[in-house]
Amino acid sequence: MPNVSMTVNGKQVSGEVEGRTLLSTFIRETLDLTGTHIGCDTSQCGACVIHVNGQSVKSCSMLALQADGADVTTIEGLAAGDQMHPMQEAFRDCHGLQCGFCTPGMVMSAVDLLQHNPDPTDHEIREWLEGNICRCTGYHNIVKAVKQAAGAMKGQAAAAE
Ligand code: FES
Ligand code: FES
Repeated sequence: MPNVSMTVNGKQVSGEVEGRTLLSTFIRETLDLTGTHIGCDTSQCGACVIHVNGQSVKSCSMLALQADGADVTTIEGLAAGDQMHPMQEAFRDCHGLQCGFCTPGMVMSAVDLLQHNPDPTDHEIREWLEGNICRCTGYHNIVKAVKQAAGAMKGQAAAAE
């Protein structure tokens, strides 16, 4: 079987995979990083979103071999030690989750949104997150959380200047 290696959450990892092994399967079953969720088999729900080379990607729609040599971040790699990422804090503060199943993918997608657009409108947030399905329909508070995180991250950026 071919070998794949990549950097995941700052650590070099490698493993044997079949040609058909999905990146989501490699992350969950080989690396045991089960924060990346699988909520569908049609690439529609977005529960599996991670970052590959800084871009949000549905990890169920990519083969592990396609990520060979990539720099991958999963939800487990977002916090800085004990310090939650501002997006995670905002989801907690705004009750942007109910069952939490969609949350890792929502958070990873939302972080990527703010990389592209640091001050999105409600409409832009809803549009960006259209590939992420919340079956608890908590969209209102999810949008609130993304806006709060945008404000917090702008504040952090200004303080660093
Ligand atoms: Fe990847 Fe649903 S598990 S989109
Ligand atoms: Fe339950 Fe979104 S919080 S699916």
